[in-house]
Amino acid sequence: MKSSPDRVHPLWDEFCQDLEPVSGSDELSDLQDKYLSRKRGLISLELRKLGALTPQERSEAGQQLNELKAQVQAALSERQAKFKEEERRLQLATERIDVTLPGYEGARGGIHPLRRVWRQMEEISVRMGFTVVSGPEVESDYYNFEALNIPKGHPARDDQDTLYLSDTLLLRTHTSPVQIRTMEKQDPPLKIVVPGRVYRRDATDATHSPMFHQMEGLVVDEGITLADLKGTLEVFLKELFSADTQVRFRPSYFPFVEPGAEVDISCIFCSGKGCRVCKSSGWIEIMGAGMVHSRVFEMVGYDCEKYTGFAWGMGIDRIAQLKYQVDDARLFFENDIRFLRQF
Ligand code: DAH
Repeated sequence: MKSSPDRVHPLWDEFCQDLEPVSGSDELSDLQDKYLSRKRGLISLELRKLGALTPQERSEAGQQLNELKAQVQAALSERQAKFKEEERRLQLATERIDVTLPGYEGARGGIHPLRRVWRQMEEISVRMGFTVVSGPEVESDYYNFEALNIPKGHPARDDQDTLYLSDTLLLRTHTSPVQIRTMEKQDPPLKIVVPGRVYRRDATDATHSPMFHQMEGLVVDEGITLADLKGTLEVFLKELFSADTQVRFRPSYFPFVEPGAEVDISCIFCSGKGCRVCKSSGWIEIMGAGMVHSRVFEMVGYDCEKYTGFAWGMGIDRIAQLKYQVDDARLFFENDIRFLRQF
């Protein structure tokens, strides 16, 4: 290390006095100019004067000045660092994020009541060993009617006001055509449910909509009897509504089953005592069902000596109306957020 000059340059004291009150980066930069600027800086001016001295004097004074310059530079950067640190501290203090502030809860979407019931019906079916399948909504006359034993001119065609797209194409009026499509592709044993949209040329009112939802069921195997139909549907309906739900079967007619039945449950509002919803009967009609007609098996090439089966179809919208006590089915399709928020 160089030996320090025996005399501290007088500019050092002056500099120290100047530095003392400096309170910010701008002032500091002015101070730096005052002492170190190449043209006007006090130290630079002193250095320029060295040329007039003798070599001996020049060496000593030069060393002293260089020493001074280094000291001044060090003092300036030290102060600069202090300012930086202060600034940073201030920034951290003012820009601090208060992580204890409770957040805002965003609006959460919900599952539409029809989809809820749809899913619940699927879940119950899957637990009971059924496979969920689907089919086209644009259907041919053949699958929607013909293959289900509803030939042209059959009165059952008039019961279902059909939306035709052409002479042979239509919007399916029920989910039953998927029975045919599945049996054509697959040999027994078969255990399927078919939830989906169906369409009818109905005017909209509290219980009708031109588009609604059904779930079809089909079981085919050797030795299937009416007792299987009754047992299966009873278990399904008790799961869907409640364990104390009563189920009854009334003889009815559907072209694709024989025998056919209409299935009622004990009124879920009055438990069978009689009320406005069940029109004082104590029972609510919930679905159609029956043993698959041998003509249907013939259409798909199943051996009706070997196999028997049962099928049913029910309206998902109607079940949702009952479960959630919605007296107007139009509410399901209007998407009024005040209605949907309740589910
Ligand atoms: N497809 C019938 C309808 O839409 C409902 C139905 C009745 C389906 C009896 C069936 C059944 O599978 O066996 O009115």
